[in-house]
Amino acid sequence: MNPANERSHEAQRSSPSSQSFPSRPLADLLGPPPGESYADLHVHTTGSDGLCEVRDWSSQARSTSLQLIAITDHDHFGTVRRWHDAHRDVADNVLPGVEITARGQIVHIGVLFPRALPRELPAPGTPLFDVMHWARSIDGAIVVLVHPLPGLWRIQLRRLQRAGLLPDAIETHFPLAFWRTPAIERAAERYHLAKLGATDAHMTPAQLGRYVTCFPGHSVDHLVKAIHERTTRGVTRPVACRLPLSVYALQSLFAWLLPYRDRPSIASIRARLLTAARARTGAPPAGTLVPLPPQPAPGDGAGR
Ligand SMILES: [Fe+2]
Repeated sequence: MNPANERSHEAQRSSPSSQSFPSRPLADLLGPPPGESYADLHVHTTGSDGLCEVRDWSSQARSTSLQLIAITDHDHFGTVRRWHDAHRDVADNVLPGVEITARGQIVHIGVLFPRALPRELPAPGTPLFDVMHWARSIDGAIVVLVHPLPGLWRIQLRRLQRAGLLPDAIETHFPLAFWRTPAIERAAERYHLAKLGATDAHMTPAQLGRYVTCFPGHSVDHLVKAIHERTTRGVTRPVACRLPLSVYALQSLFAWLLPYRDRPSIASIRARLLTAARARTGAPPAGTLVPLPPQPAPGDGAGR
């Protein structure tokens, strides 16, 4: 690509995504109360099974009333690490994180890294208690029980409490929470956990902000303080985002093939699925799936 075209291409990729994705004027009018901010702390990128890149989510957040987002790819940290390495000198609105799959493939633990970044991640399927010990070893890490699973989350919390390994927070407002939100909120109070809202968005930036965390202040430090003081709250907002069923089907295939992404033939299929799915969301055709570098080896990558 010649330099002029490359600049044009880059400008298109960097332009606010609100011009390319469905607009949400009602939700954007409903900002947080004075002195408070909204954060969406659970979002996936092409680094795992999401259809968007970090820049897509970040641009959409900037064009709406979202102050912060957290990138929490499944068992993968390289994508958001690269983003932070590239934006080290500028204030940005992206909090690095990860969603760890603990043993049994049924326990997902979100870990946010407001201070130090991890040197390595536990392998998928690591026992839950080991995951919690790993998270607690990272300076400033915030541990979240994400989208509590029906029939399991109460047992998980009891076990974690007995082991002295309770998370800092629990998602109370998230897709498919439905009638369970009040019970999860009561449990959050019983176990003294911060209450969070998050979309677990995979498809399009227009999904951002339906479920959010409201916190006093506006910065990452304010968010961390609010989580530690248990003053956050989950909120459901009138953000509507309807996508063709084909997007969900394509994204599902894209996700199912994730464990095999290192195989060249599978990587090629995933790239085509990604392109097709993004086209159906109205996203710019710029979301090329690039080969991912291996996770940093133990000892690499000092904390920020
Ligand atoms: Fe997730």
